[in-house]
Amino acid sequence: MKKNNIILIGFMGCGKTSVGIRLSYKLRRAFLDTDKWIEQKQKKAISDIFASEGEAAFRQMEKDCIRGFIERENNKIISTGGGLPVQEGNCELLKKLGKVYYLRVTPETVYERLKNDTSRPLLAGENPMAKIESLLAQRTPLYEACADVIIDVDGKSFEEILEEIAEKEMGV
Ligand code: S3P
Repeated sequence: MKKNNIILIGFMGCGKTSVGIRLSYKLRRAFLDTDKWIEQKQKKAISDIFASEGEAAFRQMEKDCIRGFIERENNKIISTGGGLPVQEGNCELLKKLGKVYYLRVTPETVYERLKNDTSRPLLAGENPMAKIESLLAQRTPLYEACADVIIDVDGKSFEEILEEIAEKEMGV
C-alpha cells in the first residue's frame, strides 16, 4: 500500500533539505533525510563513504534506506540524495513511499549555491559547472518521470515554495 509521506527529489543544491526542514515545521510533520540517515548509520560523512567504499556501495545504502523507510515511515517529510531517484528501481520505491515533489533548478543556480562547497564528491575537481550541466541534463528526464509534482524553484523564496507544496497537499 502507498504510504502518505512527502518526498522531495532534485539535483544537489536545489534546496531539498532546507525546504524539507521548513515544510516539517509548517505542516507539523517529522523530517527525515536519506543522506543524514546513511551518515548516522555508517558514522561517516558521505564524502568519506564515497572515498572509502565507493559510489556503488553508497547507492546500495540509499536503496536499503528507502526500503527501510517504506517498512517503517508514514506521514513524514523525506528529503533524498540527488542521485537516489535516478538509480535503477528507486523511482518505483519512492512512489510506494509517498507523493514525489521534484524541486527543479537550473545549472547556474546550482553552481552559485555550491561553488564553495566541498561536501559533494561528484562535483569535486576541475570544472564543476561542466559536471553540473552534464549530470543535470542526464538526470532531468528521470527526475521528471519520477515526479508527481514539479516545482520550479529558481528565484523563489522558501515561503513561496512551501506555499506551493502546502496547496498541493491540501488539494487546492
Ligand atoms: C549526490 C547527491 C548528494 C549525496 C551524494 C550524491 C548525487 O545529496 O547523496 O553526494 O548523486 O547527486 P544532495 O542532493 O543532498 O546534495
